[in-house]
Amino acid sequence: MPHRFRHMLGTEPLTAEQITFLLDQAKPFQEIQQHPLKKLATLRGKTVALAFFEPSTRTRISFATAAARLGADTMNLQAEASSLRKGESLLDTVRTLDAMKPDCLVMRHSASGAPDFVARRLEIPVINAGDGTHEHPTQALLDALTIRDRKGTLEGLNVTILGDILHSRVARSNLHLLGKFGCRFALCGPAMWLPRELECIGPPGSSVRRVTHIEEALEGADVIIVLRVQQERQHEPALSLDEYILLYQLTPERLRCARPDALVLHPGPMIRGLEIDPAVADGPQSCVLEQVTNGLAVRMALLFLLIGTAPESASESPAPSKDAADAAH
Ligand code: NCD
Repeated sequence: MPHRFRHMLGTEPLTAEQITFLLDQAKPFQEIQQHPLKKLATLRGKTVALAFFEPSTRTRISFATAAARLGADTMNLQAEASSLRKGESLLDTVRTLDAMKPDCLVMRHSASGAPDFVARRLEIPVINAGDGTHEHPTQALLDALTIRDRKGTLEGLNVTILGDILHSRVARSNLHLLGKFGCRFALCGPAMWLPRELECIGPPGSSVRRVTHIEEALEGADVIIVLRVQQERQHEPALSLDEYILLYQLTPERLRCARPDALVLHPGPMIRGLEIDPAVADGPQSCVLEQVTNGLAVRMALLFLLIGTAPESASESPAPSKDAADAAH
């Protein structure tokens, strides 16, 4: 059953069926990443506007590359040098971009809810590339694709999310997404980073435990999502970095508390030696680089579904399924 998507603002409103559909649509785009020639003409003539009002490296490059590999052009707003610095409002800035007639807008903003605010005022699809501490839906989708590929399923997994959960939109999007598949969560970190409200974030009946002891949180884990310590968001850190390393760094010894086949994910940027030991980051259980490659596939699938039209000939699409073509209308 095909699904229609107007925007992609978060994983909270998505159903398990919609998520499964999106991940299935990413499969042919995963294969493209292995081809010597990666450029398709699927979105030829389309334009993707990228408006990142907060610093970003991998997410911005990933969206730009996804658009390029589909044959689309990109318009790039350089937030640091933009008229926002001269006092223009967010809405005036995005309306100016919109007047140049892009087909969709990918935006990142430090304010939670900013993409939703913009989506209600523009006619084109808006993709949230991270808003404040609210959501980062494409990160959760690429994490889910990575987990599903390795584990064969998303159903009923034990997921430990480790670190700076308070400031993490990645944690929230993952809780919403994986919660729809009955995953059980242990949120682990210093108590000041474990907001109580996250216990009720998932669908009714979801199991979310807040645990301050790392060995306890890792016991029985199938998946460990390590988060960056967002030093730029810490005003009065209650723990020093040395204390954090001592108590919460994911080390090879601690990893042994999880299941032997547990996966280690990190959304990046990863601070080696702080939240994760390099031996774990580069070890056989790490999926960090696979996540980056899968990010391209997920973003290509999403752009295709939001702004693609049915290809004129089969050669113009990476083995497009009928569903994908239908959903693009
Ligand atoms: C994350 C983000 O910006 O939310 N990074 C990313 O998009 N890959 C996490 C982070 O900045 O720590």
